[in-house]
Amino acid sequence: MITLESVTKVYRGRGQEVTAVDDVSLSVDSGEIFGILGRSGAGKSTLLRCLNLLERPTSGTITVDGVELVALSRQDLRAARRRIGTVFQHVNLLASRTAAENVAYGLEVAGVPSARRRERVAELLDLVGLSDRADSRPSQLSGGQQQRVGIARALATDPSVLLCDEATSALDPDTTAQILDLIADINDRTGVTVVLITHEAEVVRRICDSAALMEAGRVVESGRLLDLVGDPDSRLAGILLPVGEPLAEIPGHHLTLAFADERAVDPTLSRLTRDLGVEVSILGGTLERVAGHQVGRLRVALGDERGGREDEIVAYLRRAGVTVSAA
Ligand SMILES: Nc1ncnc2c1ncn2[C@@H]1O[C@H](COP(=O)(O)OP(=O)(O)O)[C@@H](O)[C@H]1O
Ligand SMILES: [Mg+2]
Repeated sequence: MITLESVTKVYRGRGQEVTAVDDVSLSVDSGEIFGILGRSGAGKSTLLRCLNLLERPTSGTITVDGVELVALSRQDLRAARRRIGTVFQHVNLLASRTAAENVAYGLEVAGVPSARRRERVAELLDLVGLSDRADSRPSQLSGGQQQRVGIARALATDPSVLLCDEATSALDPDTTAQILDLIADINDRTGVTVVLITHEAEVVRRICDSAALMEAGRVVESGRLLDLVGDPDSRLAGILLPVGEPLAEIPGHHLTLAFADERAVDPTLSRLTRDLGVEVSILGGTLERVAGHQVGRLRVALGDERGGREDEIVAYLRRAGVTVSAA
């Protein structure tokens, strides 16, 4: 479990002050994949660097697996950091070392004996699907393969937390999908807690269990994705599952509907049409797999024959398990 309490980071320089992270409190459950989504400059990288104390917060506390990091001595912090692996957008592998030697580097620094090191490196390369490229140098590997080495390197000391800073932002869409699926697979197999930061909604949709939305240094919303997508007023849900701009010129009473899985909306809408004799037009929306569930948000318009029965229609939808709000 990771807990941040009132973490603030102010950069000071040349008479200027930038509050990159502004009073952020968050908690991440053990074993989950937690996404932090935000635009460039929102403070995501600073927050992530605070999480392993590469950046010392100006104020606030950071607790990882029961250990509060800010108060630790230098030596204890070094030990605590081995429990936190980090994957960066730019992998920066050592060019003169093979894939296996790059993965081994952290183990050498940690003083792991060479026989054990070899064993662990073989395990890690297998985990990331690169056993056959152990002896390749970084220049002989594709961007995706280099990132696999970066992930194996981050996992070498068997951390309980894996931090990913835009780990897929330099990759093409297919390779991005493969690397995200690899991270999800590793999370599944090892139970490592993953915190990833990204500016791409697709990254969050594809593998996250929970997420936070960050703007101007602040976390403006956070929660489990399945809860958020069921909340028609959630901004994160609006980004992950956009319903489109309101089309004011389309007549009728507009509603936003949110639903998951078994509450598949199709049969519900056709049943509504049949049972209540009301026409429903779909104006926009998104159906996606999120956190392993089929979820969706739709903006619909009720036809004129609804005849003042909006409340009855909304109640019907809610009984069917659909979340409804006025669009
Ligand atoms: N080392 C630094 N010194 C001064 N300002 C910084 C430093 N790093 C980041 N910033 C500023 O902090 C803000 C947040 O940056 P960053 O954490 O990199 O955001 P993101 O990762 O979301 O793009 C930006 O305004 C950025 O210019
Ligand atoms: Mg960044």
